[in-house]
Amino acid sequence: MNPINVKGTHDILFADAPYYQYVRNIFSEVASLYGYSYIEPPTLEYTDVFIHSTGESSDIVRKEMYTFDDKGGRSVTMRPEFTAGVIRAMVSNKLYATHDLPLKAYYFGPAYRYERPQLGRYRQFIQAGIEAVGADSAFLDAEAVLFAVSALGIMGFKGLKVKVNSLGGKESRAAYRAALTDFFKDKIDDMCEDCHTRLELNPLRILDCKVPHDQEIAKGAPTLDKYLTEEDKARFEKILFYLNQMNVSYEVDTSLVRGLDYYGGLVFEVHGSTSKGEDLGALLGGGHYDGLLSQFGGPEDIDHGVGFAMGVERLIALLKDQGLELPESDIDCYLMPMGEDTFEACFVLAQDLRMAGFKVDMPYKAAKLGSYFKKAEKRGAKVALIAGENELKNDSIQVKNLATQEQREVKLSELLRTLDDLLSEDEPEHHCGCGGHHHEDGHCCCEDDHHHEEGQQCCCHHHEE
Ligand code: HAM
Repeated sequence: MNPINVKGTHDILFADAPYYQYVRNIFSEVASLYGYSYIEPPTLEYTDVFIHSTGESSDIVRKEMYTFDDKGGRSVTMRPEFTAGVIRAMVSNKLYATHDLPLKAYYFGPAYRYERPQLGRYRQFIQAGIEAVGADSAFLDAEAVLFAVSALGIMGFKGLKVKVNSLGGKESRAAYRAALTDFFKDKIDDMCEDCHTRLELNPLRILDCKVPHDQEIAKGAPTLDKYLTEEDKARFEKILFYLNQMNVSYEVDTSLVRGLDYYGGLVFEVHGSTSKGEDLGALLGGGHYDGLLSQFGGPEDIDHGVGFAMGVERLIALLKDQGLELPESDIDCYLMPMGEDTFEACFVLAQDLRMAGFKVDMPYKAAKLGSYFKKAEKRGAKVALIAGENELKNDSIQVKNLATQEQREVKLSELLRTLDDLLSEDEPEHHCGCGGHHHEDGHCCCEDDHHHEEGQQCCCHHHEE
């Protein structure tokens, strides 16, 4: 059989895994700083879950879903996004009856869209995101943007573009829809077939059309800001005020409408491009929504939410482009059995060291010492443990510091302490749980000096001064 993967999917291989781990760890860390709990709805939902929430007029629902009938004849869909499934799970489990509001949930996992694969665009991709549901507050809206910007900062990104806009409430959006319908009605004959459907279902979607000729026409369309009610304007200004207070740099983009139907009020995206200027598209997108809980039979009086999702592959492509290097798997010690007769003792010793918390590996068949050292180097080992027959008989082992090349014989009873000393010399005194490489001179990549005073804790752990 031909060992090819399904078009638009990709294998996460050994060398990529640390990057996924890195993003996931920082995302979870930031989620706990903001008081979010982990949620994981199933990959597969009944198709209705997405049709009535993500939206009948969205490209995702109309063209991109992996939908099929299961063997019982029920239409099911591989989730194209998390929001609908998370809200469905909150209602199915009545989380609002057992937990304080807002319900703050974060997630990490694969989503599926039948899109044309290209740079940063896959058919299976990973999203990391949040949803805060059950309260309506400009603070909560601003917090979603702050969460996103802080997480990206801690991951080490610089110079990203944050775009925000307000779609307004129902009244504003209805007025804007009417204005768009009016604007496009005598131009539509000249536009793509999809735009014909969009004009009927939701003229806002015409603004997302990717056909260059249609985009040119859409440039002359009225902008949404002119149709916001006073109340919606005041809400948006409040959010912007909070973002200013927190020194978040953003740009108000009145053409930002987002491609999903559930949004109302704040919408936002963060964009980035590689050093070669390749546009990776949005690194993340999100916004405020009302009415999703009740779509699933949940209570109407608390029916508000805000959230966003990041595309993890896009983040990783940009992190690599910005020079972040993470080792495939680094070990502390490489254990080198000298001769067949020492293998069993080494096998036992490796287990003891691992249970004491050291990352240890060893060969499984005998080879020359030179090749052991090559393997140790390749694996990023800091210490080589050379187990000769004579030393083992003597309850000792040769310990070589691979950075300084110093070598000495150590009693096995002293080995744990010796390794502790050797390996802690290697690390900075205080080091940040998110990798250490993204802060220089005691400054965290997030550059939010309010997070950490000199020698104090950074939001993502300890820092050296
Ligand atoms: P979205 O804009 O459709 O929003 O997707 C969020 C992010 O997922 C995008 O900004 C992008 O980084 C990534 N993404 C989307 N499609 C692909 C793809 N084919 N390949 C790679 N990455 C992709 C949502 O999904 C909303 N549920 C976000 C949200 C949460 N809004 C409120 N709460």
